[in-house]
Amino acid sequence: MNTDAGKTEKGGIVIEALGAGATERDWAELAELLTACVEGGASIGFLAPLLRAEADAYWLKIAGDLPGGFRVLLVARATAGGTIMGSAQLSCEAKANGRHRGEVQKVMMHPAYRRRGIAARLMAEIERIARARGLTLLFLDTSDSHAGAREFYERLSYVYAGGIPNYALDPHGTPEKNAIFYKTLAPGG
Ligand SMILES: CC(C)(COP(=O)(O)OP(=O)(O)OC[C@H]1O[C@@H](n2cnc3c(N)ncnc32)[C@H](O)[C@@H]1OP(=O)(O)O)[C@@H](O)C(=O)NCCC(=O)NCCS
Repeated sequence: MNTDAGKTEKGGIVIEALGAGATERDWAELAELLTACVEGGASIGFLAPLLRAEADAYWLKIAGDLPGGFRVLLVARATAGGTIMGSAQLSCEAKANGRHRGEVQKVMMHPAYRRRGIAARLMAEIERIARARGLTLLFLDTSDSHAGAREFYERLSYVYAGGIPNYALDPHGTPEKNAIFYKTLAPGG
């Protein structure tokens, strides 16, 4: 089921699925990316200040998931082997009644590289991989109030399904409503 190995390159940006070849430097840069997003106010599961040990523990768990094949971790680099600018994950459902769906998780772009269309490129690659794996439904949940995330998914034609008040705390401890989005993937589309 290796439909997502390899790299795509366009406009100098390299999108790559990380796997066994990920280096210590990659994991360190991912920890820095996560920290930069949390410190910037993104509601992505953590409170600020995010300790380095907590960020490292998160990525260690993700690294442990990768060999199972149900999780895809994409990174965007400025050049092959270069600095990680952003990342996105696809978590494929393992339950027998949900094998057609996947959850998009932790779409993050370093603040220095935003509004260049790079996260949109990551999402296009997530969708390509999802289709190649036979998935027909993607869903995700994001914060309703963090600037930009809602507009980003709407721009990419994700459908807003609703939100739950006080679903999670923002990085500074304030309860926030979430925003649940989905997209139906046309086979071969
Ligand atoms: C949301 C996020 C991933 C977008 O990354 P990005 O690389 O800047 O996004 P792109 O440049 O691909 O944006 C594509 C389009 O989405 C929309 N968009 C993206 N960020 C936006 C913002 N802050 N405000 C309004 N619209 C925005 C725009 O339509 C944009 O196209 P345009 O720049 O031509 O107008 C980034 O802001 C981020 O990392 N935020 C923190 C983490 C987070 O909240 N992730 C989502 C929850 S999982």
